[in-house]
Amino acid sequence: MVQFTLPKGSQPQRGKSWPAPVTANGKKPKRTKDFKVYRYDPDEGGNPRIDTYRVDLESCGPMVLDALIKIKNEIDPTLTFRRSCREGVCGSCAMNIDGGNTLACTKAISDISGSASIYPLPHLHVVKDLVPDMTNFYAQYASIQPYLQTKTAEPEREWRQSPEDRSKLDGYYECILCACCSTACPSYWWNSERYLGPAALLQAWRWLADSRDEARGDRLDKLEDPFRLYRCHTIMNCAQTCPKGLNPARAIGEIKQMLVKRSL
Ligand code: SF4
Ligand code: SF4
Ligand code: FES
Repeated sequence: MVQFTLPKGSQPQRGKSWPAPVTANGKKPKRTKDFKVYRYDPDEGGNPRIDTYRVDLESCGPMVLDALIKIKNEIDPTLTFRRSCREGVCGSCAMNIDGGNTLACTKAISDISGSASIYPLPHLHVVKDLVPDMTNFYAQYASIQPYLQTKTAEPEREWRQSPEDRSKLDGYYECILCACCSTACPSYWWNSERYLGPAALLQAWRWLADSRDEARGDRLDKLEDPFRLYRCHTIMNCAQTCPKGLNPARAIGEIKQMLVKRSL
């Protein structure tokens, strides 16, 4: 079996165990949970560490994001993470929770047995704590030109689409670009500079499938590449992890089929 060794400076060390909470009347809370959270500050240098925070669940909301916000507000203001909508819509709170990539705002604390392990999305550079560097991911998204491209004259009002054609975008338009799928994809781990990964490819298919778009040929030309598209080996981690229930592997299969049909 192949053995992988992490670079020395990247191995997380045991960090600080923060003091246990007490209730307003100075008593031990009835229900608590330990959150083991990845901490890394490049300005401090040194290895990352795993800090343990004990949270009073009686005074905490039900989701992992609620616990992180409580930790930041009441225990350790230096803990850094992204969030915005807290509704599973913006994609910014994506992280690795209990061994799987998901959204902290839609992951229920009660679904985690024992202590909760919280890490940043895997295989991305870490900016700080739970904040990964998304530069490459967004550049790849931009590269698929995620907007309507037309050649015919602009209609006087809107570009029209039948309900049937509109329904062909179902299962694709809902992507919130959280990157849970791409950072769960082994092919993307090894080739993230050259393979577009499931999120960008799902988005690429969303525009290929749009009846109003007139750049299909150009789009397919750009995708027909042994690395950009054909690094997908149908491992299916992407579909398993998507917090919106989407199936990027199916979108990738559709692109491959469209390329085959074009070549006949
Ligand atoms: S199906 Fe393709 S894109 Fe999805 S995880 Fe597997 S290799 Fe990656
Ligand atoms: S396909 Fe799912 S997991 Fe991937 S970026 Fe879109 S919403 Fe996130
Ligand atoms: S905060 Fe927006 S998806 Fe979680």
